Amino acid sequence: MSESASILFVGDVVGGLGKRTLLALLPSLRDRYAPDFVVVNGENAAGGVGITPKIAKEMLAAGVDAITLGNHTYRHREVYPYLDEEPRILRPANFLASQPGHGWCVIDGERGRLGVISLSGNLFMKAGRPAFPEADSALHALAGKVDHVLVDMHAEATSEKVAMGWHLDGRVTAVVGTHTHVPTADARILPGGTAYITDVGMTGPRGGVIGVKRDQALTSMVTQMPIRFETSSEDPWLNGVVIRASSESMRALEIEQVLLPAPGVA
Ligand SMILES: [Fe+2]
Ligand SMILES: [Fe+2]
Repeated sequence: MSESASILFVGDVVGGLGKRTLLALLPSLRDRYAPDFVVVNGENAAGGVGITPKIAKEMLAAGVDAITLGNHTYRHREVYPYLDEEPRILRPANFLASQPGHGWCVIDGERGRLGVISLSGNLFMKAGRPAFPEADSALHALAGKVDHVLVDMHAEATSEKVAMGWHLDGRVTAVVGTHTHVPTADARILPGGTAYITDVGMTGPRGGVIGVKRDQALTSMVTQMPIRFETSSEDPWLNGVVIRASSESMRALEIEQVLLPAPGVA
């Protein structure tokens, strides 16, 4: 039997400021929560869109155990071979099999083995295959190989994320939603024992519009004209959750939101 373990999951890291916020706060988060596993969504880490091997390596070197991605996975071509080579970086499992990368991995920890699965929603998102049967296939592939499972459901529609929580309740340790960059107030343990939240939020500049410079986002929306977006540098925060996983396989005891300002980070 596995032992109980804790998992820190950090929501979408946006830009250099988001990465610096993560790296600055990680040591104190380790002190406070003693996470056995750290998983970070890095889909906006490179200038607000996508990720590069350099940034991913920096995060892994800082003690991040796995990186999940989303709709911005393929923004930077230089990451394509890295997605195939590095087991700890995940693009949504329900992308086409022909697309670079893979959708799940296993992290060996001192307190058991954590399976991490990345999924993309299908509503208002571009994902080649449906998320729900892919979640089942991923769990089938991981059966017997893991003690805990964390699913990052990267989706636009809250309905699809709630539904994925119910679909996997009792079969995984946690289903955490990402992509909308705004944390939701519904973190809870579902009746079957799965920790759930619709959106973890983002790690980066809260002073913008979901990461983009405020004036640029406003100009775009007010004038309805095309404009180049840059990442905001105002008011960095880290948004995450800590999940305490039971020693009983695929059950969570607790999910706690972590919403921390990082005023000293620039
Ligand atoms: Fe994102
Ligand atoms: Fe996204």
